[in-house]
Amino acid sequence: MNQDQLKQMVGEAAKDEVLKLPAGQILGIGTGSTANCFIDALAPHKDHFVGTVSSSNATTERLLKHGFKVLDPNLVQSLPAYVDGADEIDPAGNMIKGGGGALTREKIIASMAKQFICICDSSKQVAVLGNFALPVEIIPLAKGVVTKELERLGGKVTLRLAKSTRADLNQTPSEPFVTDNGGWILDIAGLSITDPVKLESQINQIAGVITVGLFAKEKADVLLVSNATGVSRLTFS
Ligand code: 5RP
Repeated sequence: MNQDQLKQMVGEAAKDEVLKLPAGQILGIGTGSTANCFIDALAPHKDHFVGTVSSSNATTERLLKHGFKVLDPNLVQSLPAYVDGADEIDPAGNMIKGGGGALTREKIIASMAKQFICICDSSKQVAVLGNFALPVEIIPLAKGVVTKELERLGGKVTLRLAKSTRADLNQTPSEPFVTDNGGWILDIAGLSITDPVKLESQINQIAGVITVGLFAKEKADVLLVSNATGVSRLTFS
């Protein structure tokens, strides 16, 4: 079974999970290839929810294409659940997110939801977070000062660059990747994150940081994880 099939399998399982929620509510929906599988699986059942709240422009586009209603988060009082993928998840449900660059809106929507349902394949499960470079969204003019502060944490800090949209040009991208919020992303490689709660709050306090892609305060409540033998459901307290 390849990774795409594992993502589809967990997307189907997440669809079954959210259809157990009482009908007529609003659902928070994440970003990335696994979240896309979930959106596609849920599309035939979209009327179970009166609307969705989206964590990125890409997700909004996909939801609208399927005919989901996408609501302004400011007009939403409560969300029973937020469903999203992760780049890494540890045994306590702490996650690294932001590989797709949507970390800020993901964290905002996750903070509105009663439960975070993380969906991924088992390659994302790790004993200690940090093998995946930790994304930090920043205000562009603070790049220099934030880089210096982040380097003190001991990792290697790199500005994320935009992928070339010209398939015919085998060129190295040189423009910064720009988020949906107009921010830039610094990726910190080489960290071993043994205290995610402390590190999240430490990085959050650096002036110029918009959001760190450590989800320890907004960690997963439920994990649906797929491997070749099926999908397991874990819960975290
Ligand atoms: C986007 C994210 C994604 O959830 C994360 O990168 C996982 O993506 P995928 O499901 O494509 O592996 O945080 O900002």
